[in-house]
Amino acid sequence: MLLKTLTFSTLSILFTLICIGGYVSASGVGLSCPDWPLCPAGLVPLEDFIIEYFHRTIAAITGLMVIVTMMFILKSKQTPKGMKIASLIAGSAVISQITLGAFVIIERLHAHLVTLHLGIGIILFSMSIIVTLYAWKIPEKQKSIPRMQNKST
Ligand code: HEM
Repeated sequence: MLLKTLTFSTLSILFTLICIGGYVSASGVGLSCPDWPLCPAGLVPLEDFIIEYFHRTIAAITGLMVIVTMMFILKSKQTPKGMKIASLIAGSAVISQITLGAFVIIERLHAHLVTLHLGIGIILFSMSIIVTLYAWKIPEKQKSIPRMQNKST
């Protein structure tokens, strides 16, 4: 149950992050936080850059959740090889994505970098769906049901 909850929560927060990313891009507020890694007021969320602030904060939480999920899956003996591979790709994608986020800012939203940012986001989301589907296919550990004893023998 823990793995199902963890993978589904990670997928849900990632979905939210991608939607916020789309909003950042479409509303043209990508450079409202021109610095890296923090916004101009440090950890204080000001209205001037609240959307980009959310994008970065949720990216940090998502990154942590993807890595925790990956470590959990790699350590578990119950998880199949395909799931381990997908979670490894997701872990690498999230690290690349957060690093790339820094370059997107430093290079002032260079079109190639923003396109790559979108592409890696799609790979990350696809891998997270695969990991979640695997988690929901793994049967729960069978509860020990006492076997009926045949007393006549
Ligand atoms: C797991 C981490 C992240 C994911 C999945 C993610 C995803 C996305 C997506 C899907 C978009 C929309 C792209 C588009 O519509 O073309 C976006 C935009 C953006 N992201 Fe991220 N992002 C992540 C982390 C970061 C980080 C750490 C930064 C650091 C500053 C960042 C900065 C930006 C910026 C500035 C835009 C707007 C680009 C523009 O104006 O066109 N992202 N992100």
